[in-house]
Amino acid sequence: MKNRDRKIGCVVTGAAGFVGSHLAERLLSENYRVIGVDNFFSGRKENLTALWKHPDFSFHERSVTEAGLLGDLKAQYPDLECCFHLAAIVSVPYSVDHPETTMEVNCQAAVNLLGEADHLGFGAFVFAGSSAEYGGEQRLPLKEEYATEHTRHLSAYGRSKYLASREVAERRCGVALRCFNIYGPRQDPTSPYSGVISRFVALALQQQPLTIFGDGLQTRDFIYVSDVVEAYLRAASLCGKATGGGKNPYNIGMGKSTTILELAETINGLVENHAGLAICPERPGDIRFSEASVDAFHKVAGWEPRVSLLEGLRKTIAWARASQEASSQP
Ligand SMILES: NC(=O)c1ccc[n+]([C@@H]2O[C@H](COP(=O)([O-])OP(=O)(O)OC[C@H]3O[C@@H](n4cnc5c(N)ncnc54)[C@H](O)[C@@H]3O)[C@@H](O)[C@H]2O)c1
Repeated sequence: MKNRDRKIGCVVTGAAGFVGSHLAERLLSENYRVIGVDNFFSGRKENLTALWKHPDFSFHERSVTEAGLLGDLKAQYPDLECCFHLAAIVSVPYSVDHPETTMEVNCQAAVNLLGEADHLGFGAFVFAGSSAEYGGEQRLPLKEEYATEHTRHLSAYGRSKYLASREVAERRCGVALRCFNIYGPRQDPTSPYSGVISRFVALALQQQPLTIFGDGLQTRDFIYVSDVVEAYLRAASLCGKATGGGKNPYNIGMGKSTTILELAETINGLVENHAGLAICPERPGDIRFSEASVDAFHKVAGWEPRVSLLEGLRKTIAWARASQEASSQP
């Protein structure tokens, strides 16, 4: 996806969300036109603060489930050639309670947008898949080929992402990225279903104990948001090319696992929170261990994570501290 000779327009669905807003900012900094789409289901207007001011940013408050969405946008922005589709229902418990809505938003809308992108001749369609596509898979590190039709998905979220990723990967213009646990500034800590890092940082800054479910030895693969954004850009460049032995969909993670206990202790140490930990009973349905194999995307796109967990945590804490201070100003 080269942008040297003329401006290329990109749709970012989920632009008011955590990852989508970072991606939109990066695309603008690389001289792309960005058309953000979001219905604020979980996204926030504050996430668009830096974007509003930019002359190459436009925003449409619409749902990705609306028929003909990309065609309408293409009619308004003829330079549109690329779609980063991140909008989704992201709460796993919500998806368990609302499987049909989740399938409609996370899978059917993605398939419809992909079909439209193909029909309109878009050069790239990059989809936000998820590590939840591996369900209860226990072989580690998780390799792309482990997610199959027979995978026992633990939620409608995991199933919907798997089905959509598979469709995207089959199209010439499509690449799906199976992201592991993304963290960084602007991740919403207020929902009980938010990423564990945003919740731990918020609690630590309030000098409150960090809640651990079970023995804390469960692991996750945490990846900083700027590394994920870089992966999205590289994925767009791969779209439409024969990727020589590629394993589309591709995993995006650090390729390292961290225990929740270690994470909590590190955050308490960095924030100087002396309230310690609150140990609660294990949550049924939580996966025990997670770690990505990231060789495939490295091989096809030369991508590798650059931000260490410690550095990423420092940046996230600095942002959370600054936003807490800003919100406490009269
Ligand atoms: N954060 C993570 O750890 C993680 C990990 C793997 C995959 N992902 C995927 O990355 C994407 C972005 O996640 P995020 O963490 O930024 O979550 P987020 O909730 O901040 O962003 C999702 C955005 O989609 C919007 N949205 C939801 N339904 C919509 C609809 N019908 N029409 C238009 N917009 C709609 C929401 O309002 C929100 O702004 C999602 O697809 C998610 O499944 C995230």
